[in-house]
Amino acid sequence: MKLLVTGGAGFIGSNYVHHRLVAHPDDEIVILDKMTYAGRPENLEGLPEDRFRLVEGDIADRDIVHSALDGCDALINFAAESHVDRSIEAPGEFITTDVFGTFVLLEAARDLGIRHLQISTDEVYGSIDEGSFTEQSPIEPSSPYSASKAGGDLIVRAFNHTYDADALVIRASNNYGPRQHPEKLIPLTILNALHGDSIPVYGNGMQVRNWLFVQDFCTAIDTVFDKGEAGQVYNAGGPDELPNIEVVMTILRLAGADESLITHVGDRLGHDVRYSLGSERTEGLGWRAQVSFEDGIGRTVAWYRDNEDWWQSLRAGEYREYYERQYGTRLGS
Ligand code: NAD
Ligand code: DAU
Repeated sequence: MKLLVTGGAGFIGSNYVHHRLVAHPDDEIVILDKMTYAGRPENLEGLPEDRFRLVEGDIADRDIVHSALDGCDALINFAAESHVDRSIEAPGEFITTDVFGTFVLLEAARDLGIRHLQISTDEVYGSIDEGSFTEQSPIEPSSPYSASKAGGDLIVRAFNHTYDADALVIRASNNYGPRQHPEKLIPLTILNALHGDSIPVYGNGMQVRNWLFVQDFCTAIDTVFDKGEAGQVYNAGGPDELPNIEVVMTILRLAGADESLITHVGDRLGHDVRYSLGSERTEGLGWRAQVSFEDGIGRTVAWYRDNEDWWQSLRAGEYREYYERQYGTRLGS
């Protein structure tokens, strides 16, 4: 199979490409990626050169999408603006990429008659006080990020319903693992702990997230891609739900850093208090998450310890400026 993977130079997309080329030795992959601050050539190191090709371009650009899709049998859309805090700061790009870009891909896939698997998020359901979301839960997004992802999901639904397009959605809970950008809680905490820097915990740190090791999400994607029904939504949630403060304390222990680094800072605007995602429908296709948080977080801390080259250059440049804007005043630095 020849597959178009959009956003394949980002965190989950690159983990998926590495996974897929090993799990499917006959496959070829075309990666279409705009190479924003989150898309990194380093993420593609070690891939077999004769089985993948990187096309640098925007999913919202019809001409580039059509040319990248040449000869492809299906597409998986990971490309997105993905960080909630950045969506609060500047929502415009989220609408352009996550909504309009998804539409451009759907139209192209529909015209070619090929499968479009949309990578989405549990955040489209909003926050839940108790119990877990199912695929029937109402869509109640809270942030510009989650609203833009919900928009993409609804266009997938409309394309299937209206044109009988072979399009479907998989929604994951919080992923973590190698190659995640340090703007996100887990890598930010690991790198700050390794450097002895303050760790910004929003509000009281009691917000709950449902953590899924990225390799487990890759197998969920394969399952839904192979067996999922067009027009359907499939959830993939992690095995463990933890308050943020417990995640941070675990990382501090693994990194041998002191709890005094924890600094409670002003809360995220409109912060969702709890996510919990039921995956019965995806489990019904034969998928199960295999990696516990205890195991996965140990592997993740070890990966960041062992791959200083990967993150050293990231800590300068665009991320440094973002960090100052986001945390400078809140941390009083
Ligand atoms: P990421 O920010 O690490 O990577 C996004 C990638 O998309 C980058 O390589 C970036 O360059 C590329 N990109 C951005 N705009 C683009 C555009 N207009 N055209 C082409 N490429 C573009 O994100 P991630 O954490 O790997 O998330 C991947 C997908 O999974 C996203 O759709 C996200 O909404 C979804 N998701 C993420 C999580 C998570 O916990 N990280 C959980 C559930 C769902
Ligand atoms: O649930 C899936 C979503 O998970 C994905 O769709 C998003 O792409 C991904 O970014 C992630 O969103 P979150 O907002 O949950 O992830 P983040 O790592 O930004 O934050 C996790 C929790 O930690 C959240 O409650 C906010 C909190 N937090 C985050 C940062 C960056 C802090 O307390 N301090 C921080 O510095």
